[in-house]
Amino acid sequence: MRKYSGTSGQGLIISSPAALKYLRPELSEVEIVDVLSDLKHRIFPRPFERLNPLRGRDGLVGVEIGVCGGEHALSLHRILTPARLYCIDPYSLYGEYDEGKNHYGVDQAPLHVAEISARELLADYAGQTVWIRKTSADAAKDINEPLDFVYVDGNHAEQFVREDIRNYWPLVKRGGVLGGHDFYNGFQSEHDGVIAAAMSFAIENKLSLKVELPDWWIVKP
Ligand SMILES: C[S@@+](CC[C@H](N)C(=O)[O-])C[C@H]1O[C@@H](n2cnc3c(N)ncnc32)[C@H](O)[C@@H]1O
Repeated sequence: MRKYSGTSGQGLIISSPAALKYLRPELSEVEIVDVLSDLKHRIFPRPFERLNPLRGRDGLVGVEIGVCGGEHALSLHRILTPARLYCIDPYSLYGEYDEGKNHYGVDQAPLHVAEISARELLADYAGQTVWIRKTSADAAKDINEPLDFVYVDGNHAEQFVREDIRNYWPLVKRGGVLGGHDFYNGFQSEHDGVIAAAMSFAIENKLSLKVELPDWWIVKP
């Protein structure tokens, strides 16, 4: 397999090498959806950190909302090297988390396993990681310092993404970046809310919305 150097100096990481079996001429619709999903979720670094205007600055303070197994939090640590990364996730199938019930089933076990995996994966960055095991709405009250970046990837229902933007935008410094994952909905209408919330916030506040799939972001003027 050809090795790509990317821009990170660490090469691209395809965490599911099995996806390479799809690199052949004829694919079924299910296979196409599967491989595209893998590319959108499993290639790190994602555009948010790769193209981030703050990349290379010292002492950044950031947030990831929705950490799950920690793969993207690890990428944020590696590429943006924050002094502090707040990792926010309730790891709970709370009542309004319908999308979670679709993905993880009806019991807590998969989220419990994800939490253990994330702690292990981020162990090398324990000194730069602040875990907040709460929903993003509750966690916002625990953050008492200005933020350089916020990555939104928790509950993707429109009212939750709107709430995340509304709660965290005031915490972001001028020149800071708020964005998130899953700005696509061609075959996954559960991401409709991400697009609607990000676009309406940008339009209502006359802000420039940047999109490089699968991420979106807004730099605070
Ligand atoms: C798609 S996964 C996150 C994946 C992770 N950002 C990555 O790319 O590696 C969504 C996560 O959001 C969490 N979550 C759901 N509702 C949340 C909320 N209200 N606040 C914070 N996190 C939430 C879930 O527990 C789940 O672990």
